[in-house]
Amino acid sequence: MSGLQGKVAMVTGGARGIGKAIAAALAADGAKVAVVDLDLANAEATATEVGGGARGFAANVAQAADVDAVVGAIERDLGPIDILVNNAGITRDSLLMRLSEADWDAVLNVNLKAAFLTMKAVTRGMMKRRSGRVINIASVVGVVGNRGQANYSASKAGLIGLTKTIAKELASRNVLVNAVAPGFIETDMTAALSPEARQALSAQIALGRLGAPADIASVVAFLASEGASYITGQVIVVDGGMVM
Ligand code: NAI
Repeated sequence: MSGLQGKVAMVTGGARGIGKAIAAALAADGAKVAVVDLDLANAEATATEVGGGARGFAANVAQAADVDAVVGAIERDLGPIDILVNNAGITRDSLLMRLSEADWDAVLNVNLKAAFLTMKAVTRGMMKRRSGRVINIASVVGVVGNRGQANYSASKAGLIGLTKTIAKELASRNVLVNAVAPGFIETDMTAALSPEARQALSAQIALGRLGAPADIASVVAFLASEGASYITGQVIVVDGGMVM
């Protein structure tokens, strides 16, 4: 255990994949983690697995009423939130001509609007306490674009703009806001890739392999730590050297 004892962390989409690895890394560093997910059973199972007093909570973070209710429940059960990780995200890929309005809205609501809602609900307390960390999980495609992902890349580019703006708004209150932009990481989200697609992707990655959720989690844990207290408004790309 090191560094985050006595801190409370809220991780959205924490039940599986990258969010689960983030919950585990923060718990290993001593934080009490609120694993927030649509899937309560999975969130509770993850909370039990990561330990350290972690608890599972159900919420659709794209809904303001759910966000306000879950933030209230976490603060009642675990205490004031010191670390917020906006990790919940979805894809609904299509080329522009086939992209429906519903798929545009669904992706923007979960990947971008949810971060606005959670930051609004959580950072008020952080500002009062003059201390807090927000880490938003973006994507390299928010930086460079990707065909077939207009909605997803727009949501992640938006999340980067939101990160920088809120970093500027909250810096004077010692609330630090950064983004981590993963490349291709082995999770349920990327499991659907064919072996050929996987091969083609690996060839574009300088390190020659897809990343693991733990590769992202260790960077998030660093950004939550004392060692990162002079970093705000940044986008840390963690992609094995795919985009340079
Ligand atoms: P995943 O699909 O394995 O897990 C996402 C989790 O978020 C699930 O547990 C799901 O139930 C939860 N979730 C979805 N919508 C939600 C909502 N409205 N409210 C609450 N929970 C919700 O995804 P993965 O791969 O772990 O991705 C996590 C984050 O990392 C996402 O923001 C994704 O865009 C981002 N990312 C992933 C990459 C990858 O290669 N896997 C690459 C770049 C970014």
